[in-house]
Amino acid sequence: MTEETISEGDDVLLYVKEHKTYMIRVEAGNSFHTHKGYVTHDDIIGKPYGSTVISSLGFEFRILKPMLRDYIMKSARQTQITYPKDIALITMASGIGPGSRVIEAGTGTGALTMALAFYVRPKGKVFSYEMRAPFLDVAEKNLRRAKLWKNVKLKNKDITEGIDESQVDAVILDLATPWLVVPHAHKALKPSGTIVSFSPTVDQIVNTAEALNDYGYVDIETIECLMRGMQVERGRTRPQTLMTAHTGYITSARKIMSVKLEDSQVRRTQ
Ligand SMILES: C[S@@+](CC[C@H](N)C(=O)[O-])C[C@H]1O[C@@H](n2cnc3c(N)ncnc32)[C@H](O)[C@@H]1O
Repeated sequence: MTEETISEGDDVLLYVKEHKTYMIRVEAGNSFHTHKGYVTHDDIIGKPYGSTVISSLGFEFRILKPMLRDYIMKSARQTQITYPKDIALITMASGIGPGSRVIEAGTGTGALTMALAFYVRPKGKVFSYEMRAPFLDVAEKNLRRAKLWKNVKLKNKDITEGIDESQVDAVILDLATPWLVVPHAHKALKPSGTIVSFSPTVDQIVNTAEALNDYGYVDIETIECLMRGMQVERGRTRPQTLMTAHTGYITSARKIMSVKLEDSQVRRTQ
């Protein structure tokens, strides 16, 4: 196992205790202050990830290497973000991977964009549409911080007016009116490509499923992911009392090429 030593300019996740973490970029001469005391960045530089620094008040701060999930959860937020549990299912349903060309809307904070960029690296591209221009600046900062910027093109455009790209592998939506994007997605997608839409309300998923049916998509499915944490302690292990009961529904479908069948053929294929 090779250790990775921390250099100036690296990001570190300081794990203070369960559910209390801080992400900082290490800069010589700086210090990081918390209610459990401060640590100097010089104490962190040169140490391997996985080691420990002691704060000025004597608390142990574990130094972890930030993961995609940390960049998402620590992003500077300006909208509701898509949470890791939903992102995991969205990316799986989308079928994207290294080299994929992906359309996304709306960008919002860029949390989902980060994950899409992460999975299409090193050569794929995410074209992310956002109609509110000021949001794009913060999304860009979040993407640059996570070193995922070069796989993303942010576009200040209302996606219900059309998609500029064609032959894309997936269209991924988190916006108020996904059903209005279904016709544009149909034009932009490769045959067999996927559309995945995240919506918080039932009315949205009904409208979206109907539009997908109208355009002849197949494998149309809607799921909801409920994640319940466990309190694990011998003799007292049980579900945690509190959980996030609802985030949203994930609707996915795949495009097929339109076929013009004679009446007799239609009966035989049913
Ligand atoms: C819930 S936020 C998306 C959050 C994002 N998934 C994330 O993880 O950060 C919805 C975003 O969609 C944008 N939006 C809504 N309708 C749109 C449209 N027709 N075209 C482009 N963006 C749109 C909104 O401005 C908002 O920023």
